[in-house]
Amino acid sequence: MLKFISLSILLINFKTCYGIINGYVANIHDDPYVGQLVALVPIPLTVGDRYGQVVAFSPKYAVTVCHLVQNSDPSAIGVGFGSPYQYLVKVFTISTIRCHEDFAILTNSVTQYAINDIAILKLTEPLPNCDTIQPIPLCISEPADNTALITLGWGAFVQLDLPVLGTRTLNSLILLSSNMLTFNNSIYQGIINEGHICAFSTSGQTPCGGDSGGPLAGKTLFGLTSFSISCGTTQPTVFTNVCYYEPWINANMIP
Ligand SMILES: *[C@@H]1O[C@H](CO)[C@@H](O)[C@H](O)[C@H]1NC(C)=O
Repeated sequence: MLKFISLSILLINFKTCYGIINGYVANIHDDPYVGQLVALVPIPLTVGDRYGQVVAFSPKYAVTVCHLVQNSDPSAIGVGFGSPYQYLVKVFTISTIRCHEDFAILTNSVTQYAINDIAILKLTEPLPNCDTIQPIPLCISEPADNTALITLGWGAFVQLDLPVLGTRTLNSLILLSSNMLTFNNSIYQGIINEGHICAFSTSGQTPCGGDSGGPLAGKTLFGLTSFSISCGTTQPTVFTNVCYYEPWINANMIP
């Protein structure tokens, strides 16, 4: 499981970073689908440590990025929902973790990056139906370029982000979805594929260390925070493209 720590550097091994510090404290009533991964046993985190985001898309299922949960024992992980304050979330147990079978961490000259970075978590019991905990529908069609979308996370305001015992507050940020080809050919040098969706802000607000697995959402869920080459810049963050993986998600919801 030390592997998880090294994989979680996807969003942490860079320099200056403002992360969602420039965002706003989220109102969980507006975004009741966001939850967090919670360590239930030492894995090797401390019990209670929070180390990534999950998104509920039905009462019994959540999605996250595979790089956070690959090879994890489902009994070692909980998902917390219902509050922007980490110490106030209600933690639910999960029974299965299914990572995409073609998930991989790769490296090119620019960055370490992930492909097929998606995993489904099945909850042991359905989530309660209340105003602070509500699933979000999976996307139906991809957003047009420059659509304003929200992203959320409990991540750090610095690049190096170690998991913490939940003292953080959920922050949100509005990003613009972007033309994958533009960034594919420039900043990301050909690593962007149909399974990725990019989003950026012209004022240099970005997700940062510890924000992995967070949503990119409008009325539906479009993306999951996966990797970036920098924090706190106008360069885009790369999200797992939920539209692209919707057939995989539907086929892998274990009854
Ligand atoms: C990104 O560029 C690579 C290399 O040119 C290409 O193979 C790939 O299809 C491009 N991605 C997209 C989404 O067009």
